[in-house]
Amino acid sequence: MAKTKLKKFAELDTLTNVIQPDCQNISENYHLRGHWSRAFFRNSNPLVLEIGCGKGEYTVSQALECPDKNFIGIDIKGERLWRGAKTSLENDIRNTAFIRVQAQKLEYFFGKDEVSEIWITFPDPQLQKPKIKKRLTSERLLSVYKNILTPEGVVHLKTDNEIFFDYTEELIKASGYNILSICRDIYNNKHKVEPIVTKIMTYYEEKYVNQNIPINYLKFSFK
Ligand SMILES: C[S@@+](CC[C@H](N)C(=O)[O-])C[C@H]1O[C@@H](n2cnc3c(N)ncnc32)[C@H](O)[C@@H]1O
Repeated sequence: MAKTKLKKFAELDTLTNVIQPDCQNISENYHLRGHWSRAFFRNSNPLVLEIGCGKGEYTVSQALECPDKNFIGIDIKGERLWRGAKTSLENDIRNTAFIRVQAQKLEYFFGKDEVSEIWITFPDPQLQKPKIKKRLTSERLLSVYKNILTPEGVVHLKTDNEIFFDYTEELIKASGYNILSICRDIYNNKHKVEPIVTKIMTYYEEKYVNQNIPINYLKFSFK
């Protein structure tokens, strides 16, 4: 493994805004489950998750944009999370945290009705048939999101991938969930989405926009 990667892994354990659970011992009794805002952020602000946050630029930028919300970036790749966590600490951004864990394990970390918003930003599309269950909008994960979201909670999806987008739209409709906003090619239709949707770009989003690849957006709830 490259030296810098090893250094980041070692440093991750020392960062106060990073949680790296021991995957073998994850249980529903995780001490912050159900108490994130009060026990970790020391306030009662709404909790927002970014799933597959990569280097966390979006989580960090949203946290700066909305100081009255708490943001948690989730990713399985430690060396990516490291960047967002370091930036937050270096800039004293106190309304962010990062958890290195698979989205499939979210229920162990968040209690029922604990989360107000979920952002799924440029997820790996998992196009091969055997991998469909790994999609971050799979049937199983949707039921996890439904359980941890408040009754008014919403999920936002941003993706460049048409197949992933169509799959999610169809699944939401077939499951009887509620599409609140849908917009293809948001940067040529900015007036059709809330300002926050186009105000901040993720790392991947910026790359795609520079290549003139359309970005699609879906907002849904489970009501
Ligand atoms: C294409 S990158 C997008 C990163 C960032 N959201 C962006 O837009 O720049 C997808 C990210 O999802 C993470 N990821 C993939 N499957 C995941 C899972 N099951 N649980 C948590 N993170 C996952 C990957 O490690 C990767 O960092």
